[in-house]
Amino acid sequence: MSESRAKPTLPDAQTVTKVTHWTDRLFSFRVTRPQSLRFRSGEFVMIGLMGDNGKPLLRAYSIASPSWDEELEFYSIKVQDGPLTSKLQHIKVGDEIILRPKPVGTLVHDALLPGKRLYFFATGTGIAPFASLMREPETYENYDEVIMCHTCREVAELEYGRLLVESLADDPLIGEFIGDKLRYYPTTTREDSPKMGRITTKLRDGSLFADLGVPPMDKNHDRAMICGSIGLNKDMKEILEGFGLTEGSNSIPAEYVVEKAFVD
Ligand code: A2P
Repeated sequence: MSESRAKPTLPDAQTVTKVTHWTDRLFSFRVTRPQSLRFRSGEFVMIGLMGDNGKPLLRAYSIASPSWDEELEFYSIKVQDGPLTSKLQHIKVGDEIILRPKPVGTLVHDALLPGKRLYFFATGTGIAPFASLMREPETYENYDEVIMCHTCREVAELEYGRLLVESLADDPLIGEFIGDKLRYYPTTTREDSPKMGRITTKLRDGSLFADLGVPPMDKNHDRAMICGSIGLNKDMKEILEGFGLTEGSNSIPAEYVVEKAFVD
């Protein structure tokens, strides 16, 4: 049996190096990184597989690994009749995926004005860009406090984020940047857990701030990044604008930025 790796057969092919199944609806995987690929933590790329018709079937995926990582990590939902994820969920170590090396996105530090406290608001697989940003030294150089809020239907869906957050304090590369700056606020909506309820409810009734012991959001000090469903993003925009924050972009940085968690 030959030990040599097969030559890539796909355009922009990258090789899968690790696959982890978290629930029957969620999995993460790592792939080799093209040597020329530079990206800012929080950005997304198009990835996919070759379709049955011989054409690439691509979707936008946030890169879940930080910009300094040798490999690329992605976190995905499994949709049984989804054109891409029905196939992608079966990838194994050594398989190839297509990765278009053109990173873009607004969940980047460049799109925010300087501040003291940075909130990450995610639902479901929307935690992916924050899995990248939580491992980015710049996050902790720029802010005194970083608060990762993640809401899922069930406890098991929090696991990917929870294990990542728990591993970071002792991480040999990023741990010293983090110190005690990173706080984690997980909630569930359809299964009992220590904190129950939608994050939007907790922002509106102030229980998020009471639980964390921080003042209500204000545009002078607080910054936010949002990544979730269209409904979450819309509701969060309204809430944050109610606190006086305005939406930023790469060209006009401001107090918050938002992006859809893409694959459904
Ligand atoms: P809920 O269970 O109350 O719908 P999904 O799996 O549908 O993407 O949802 C992921 C999480 O996001 C769920 O906990 C869900 O709560 C929550 N969610 C969905 N829509 C909103 C919204 N508009 N505002 C706040 N949370 C939301």
